[in-house]
Amino acid sequence: MLKIGICGYGTVGQSFVEHLRVHDDKIQSSVSEEFEIALIADRSIDKKEYNKDIAVTKDVMEMTSDSNINIIVELIGGIDIPYKVITSAIKNKKHVITANKALIAEHGDEIFKLAKEHNVYFGFEASVAGAIPIIQTLTNSMSNENILSITGIINGTCNYILDQMSSHGLEFNDALDEAKELGYAEADPTFDINGMDAAHKISILASLVYKIKSPLKNTYIEGIENITTMDIEYAKELGYSIKHVGITNKKNDSIQCRVHPVLIHKDNILSQVLGVMNALLITGDKFGTSMLYGNGAGGDATASAVVTNLVEAINFSSGKDLRNKNIFKSSGENSFNISKNEDIASPFYLRIYAHDISGVMAEITNVLANEDISIEAVTQHEPIDLDSLIPIVMITNSVNGISISNAIKKIESLAHVEGKVHAIRVLKTDER
Ligand code: NDP
Ligand code: HSE
Repeated sequence: MLKIGICGYGTVGQSFVEHLRVHDDKIQSSVSEEFEIALIADRSIDKKEYNKDIAVTKDVMEMTSDSNINIIVELIGGIDIPYKVITSAIKNKKHVITANKALIAEHGDEIFKLAKEHNVYFGFEASVAGAIPIIQTLTNSMSNENILSITGIINGTCNYILDQMSSHGLEFNDALDEAKELGYAEADPTFDINGMDAAHKISILASLVYKIKSPLKNTYIEGIENITTMDIEYAKELGYSIKHVGITNKKNDSIQCRVHPVLIHKDNILSQVLGVMNALLITGDKFGTSMLYGNGAGGDATASAVVTNLVEAINFSSGKDLRNKNIFKSSGENSFNISKNEDIASPFYLRIYAHDISGVMAEITNVLANEDISIEAVTQHEPIDLDSLIPIVMITNSVNGISISNAIKKIESLAHVEGKVHAIRVLKTDER
């Protein structure tokens, strides 16, 4: 009988235990050996409801050296303590499963090596895109050809907030509160809204498909903090919705890895990804483009991916499933340049506040023309306040980040322009 230890009995931990209870027969019939939950470690376990037949502790390190425990499921979150739990568990020859993207993006390279060295299973399916089996798909089904690009909506909280603002007119903070209540947001939701969580996820995917060390430190990261209801409405008028995406692609010897908001045209399938849903468009040199779509966050969705790993871990432990080894075989063996954000070209959405004075539009378009930037669409609104500031919204042709930054600086210095110009990239056709 294999013994399972669970570290962290919060949103995902509780859903995981419930999933095992509800689907016990089904799961026991897909594994090579019987198993049971033997220990739960959680610092505030006394405040939580749990099955009193299961032993509990507040000390997560306790189970890493417990010789009875065969498989540890880490669902605490954060980096330092999970790092200690996981490395110590692996060194003690325990199989490990985690949903912790921050840890994998920071220390995955080292942990993969350690797992290989100690011949233990290490599963992290739940770390990217919740219930979507993206890690399995990339490392097994799609591992026999070149992945050219991945573009995805990979943070459920951001997508939920943007959708609630767009479809239901909710304020940013109210939508965030809902995402917290529904169990979508991280314990520290700053990581969701500032793009860090999505950066962790795209770095994991880039490192897997391009066999490079985690590119987190070179990933361009922008969140959704500056997206206003006004931007969402203007984008709608022009036929676009605003989404937060992660993009990685390889061109020659350079890899792009970035997360930021984008305008997505309403005809693009990604613009239909609503609420907490995630979606990834993956392009390979032979299969073309495939899309994976599903629940990106939440206890049940995430626990479902953890259960998938548990079945693999049990079968791995009895030598029946060696797929897991494929993931780590070539991890980190390649090295590439990571493109700088300013070198990447795309159309841009610009929102400019200007005084309602004749000639101001001509001044702005002159600046753009001098930077060789043309305007694809433009809309001008009624004054928004007594100072007669008018919002001018435009979409440019495809230009690189340096040209747009230069143009923005010059526009901001124009006498009749007020405040900062707000720029958002527009998703290009070859990124769909
Ligand atoms: P929660 O905060 O709901 O759960 C974490 C649990 O671990 C809490 O019960 C917490 O106790 C406990 N805990 C935290 N630190 C310690 C510690 N040092 N010692 C003992 N117990 C501790 O988080 P989630 O369940 O939402 O997330 C868990 C992991 O899953 C994270 O890595 C997250 O990024 C990942 N994940 C979450 C998803 C989601 O939709 N929620 C989706 C995909 C991945 P306390 O109650 O006192 O804080
Ligand atoms: N906070 C994360 C999100 C959880 O909202 O996407 C899933 O990884």
